[in-house]
Amino acid sequence: MPAISASAPGKIILLGEHSVVHGRPAIAVPVSAVQARAAVFANPIAPTGQVRIQAPAIDLDAFLTDLPADHLFAIGIQGVLEHFGLNQLPACTIRIQSTIPIAAGMGSSAAVSVALIRAVSTFLGHPLDNEAVNAIAFKVEQRIHGNPSGVDNSVITYNQPVYFIRGQEPGFITVREPVQLLVTDSGTAAATGPMVEGVKQRHQASPHEYDAWFDRIGALVDKARDLLEIGLPDALGPLLTENHFLLQKIGVSTPELDRLVEAALGAGALGAKLTGGGGGGNMIAQVTEGTHDSVKAALLVAGARMTWLTVVAPHRGQTP
Ligand code: PMV
Repeated sequence: MPAISASAPGKIILLGEHSVVHGRPAIAVPVSAVQARAAVFANPIAPTGQVRIQAPAIDLDAFLTDLPADHLFAIGIQGVLEHFGLNQLPACTIRIQSTIPIAAGMGSSAAVSVALIRAVSTFLGHPLDNEAVNAIAFKVEQRIHGNPSGVDNSVITYNQPVYFIRGQEPGFITVREPVQLLVTDSGTAAATGPMVEGVKQRHQASPHEYDAWFDRIGALVDKARDLLEIGLPDALGPLLTENHFLLQKIGVSTPELDRLVEAALGAGALGAKLTGGGGGGNMIAQVTEGTHDSVKAALLVAGARMTWLTVVAPHRGQTP
């Protein structure tokens, strides 16, 4: 029997990470150069409820019943079952693969959830629409990360640039002119949950200071949305860089990320910042045809593990 499969892209946050947890807007874009994929193979001769999960990249080959209840895959499948009021799945093997770097600010957990939810609901004969997929993926993110804003699951589910405010339906941005970004892996993994928790605690300790920084980031996000929609992408760069300085203030950058940002700017990037939870993970640098090579070389000299070019393209989301 052919597999039922579904995939979901990675993502980057252009501006607004962390402040989005505290009610300010953020802009995120899908990155289709990296993908998570889930495939479901029916196993009609095995007893109902026997679900085998294979994820070779993390060396996992186990029955669903043997996974801890708080495992991402178990939570995602449980979310779909609950949605349909079911107790178990027909016997099957679910294979999960992903090329999205883990703990690097590229939404790997949300992308795996979205792919899994889509594949499993289709296997059940009731493919869910984006709204339902997004709602289940958000619940999974809450279980995995504690206090997510919902931006990751939204941009990944809808596979379009989003203007996102916590608790609201995502707005979509019509990008007029392409924006070229070098996504750069700093080489250090970082878990988002503790970074979000750290910001929360510092915010509680100094609410006025942190609220002022969050407001400034929110204003940058609004300006950036206008520039993307008007078609003035080159003016975006300085906003990215200013966002990075504000992320430094709220304590989520690292010396490595700062060094990469400086190297990119020194080599002619229009702007640069960390992206995602910080504390490691990825940064982005906005480049042009003319500066791409020099910025990439400078990033590699400054310690980047790897870089890849992604283009926020008009109407089509991202292209590799
Ligand atoms: O590290 P990532 O890719 O999961 O990005 C998280 C973005 C935060 O704003 C830090 C958290 C959130 O839930 O919005």
